[in-house]
Amino acid sequence: MSVEKKTTPEIFDPRSTPEMTAKYYDNWSGHYEEEIMTQLKCTAPRVCAGAVGKALGGLDRGKVKILDVGAGTGLCGEELVQLGFTDIDGVDGSQDMLNLAERKQIYKRLICDFVGPNRLDIENDTYDAIACCSSFAPGHLKEDCLPELIRVVKPGGYIIITFREEYLYIVEDYNGKLEPAMARLQDDGLWERVSREVFPKFYEDKNGITFVYKVL
Ligand SMILES: C[S@@+](CC[C@H](N)C(=O)[O-])C[C@H]1O[C@@H](n2cnc3c(N)ncnc32)[C@H](O)[C@@H]1O
Repeated sequence: MSVEKKTTPEIFDPRSTPEMTAKYYDNWSGHYEEEIMTQLKCTAPRVCAGAVGKALGGLDRGKVKILDVGAGTGLCGEELVQLGFTDIDGVDGSQDMLNLAERKQIYKRLICDFVGPNRLDIENDTYDAIACCSSFAPGHLKEDCLPELIRVVKPGGYIIITFREEYLYIVEDYNGKLEPAMARLQDDGLWERVSREVFPKFYEDKNGITFVYKVL
């Protein structure tokens, strides 16, 4: 895996361990926002935050608790703040990405940990919603983290997951695995799908996809 200072999302390595991915983002952190937002004009943070706002509907935005999963430098958190949400925590495997997020002073709690089958330092049923923006990618989150995400969301709360649509088909860890795993969790009565929407210009000519699930 490359740990050069400057890179592009085209070269995520599917064989990366969580530790390698975190190191990769530590090295990328200083350039990340310039590349993702200024060069690629990524719409995902706005789309993901918008889906959170829509799912939570008329709830008091100053009172609901949101966890930003794979928070990175806080791009999605900033969009959530724009929509009036104020009680936001974040979790990410890269401390350097989180250091940049912390400077924005929009998160109440930032947790540096890997998101996977491991138990996070978070009580059951803590959040009204999870926003997970662009954190499903080669070598990133896998379906094995979904039960843990469900565990920390209150019954009736929402999990919103946005990523590049083609990853569903071109990433071996996801193709024929991610959506079936999501369906199994529904069959098991743990959550139910509210929507699955493809949208244009995740960045450049790439479509994005947003899944909204309601925790049962
Ligand atoms: C493409 S960035 C997205 C950051 C932010 N959500 C945004 O929209 O800009 C992916 C983030 O997921 C984090 N990440 C990847 N795999 C992870 C894992 N297994 N556990 C925790 N964080 C992970 C990376 O450190 C990185 O900050």
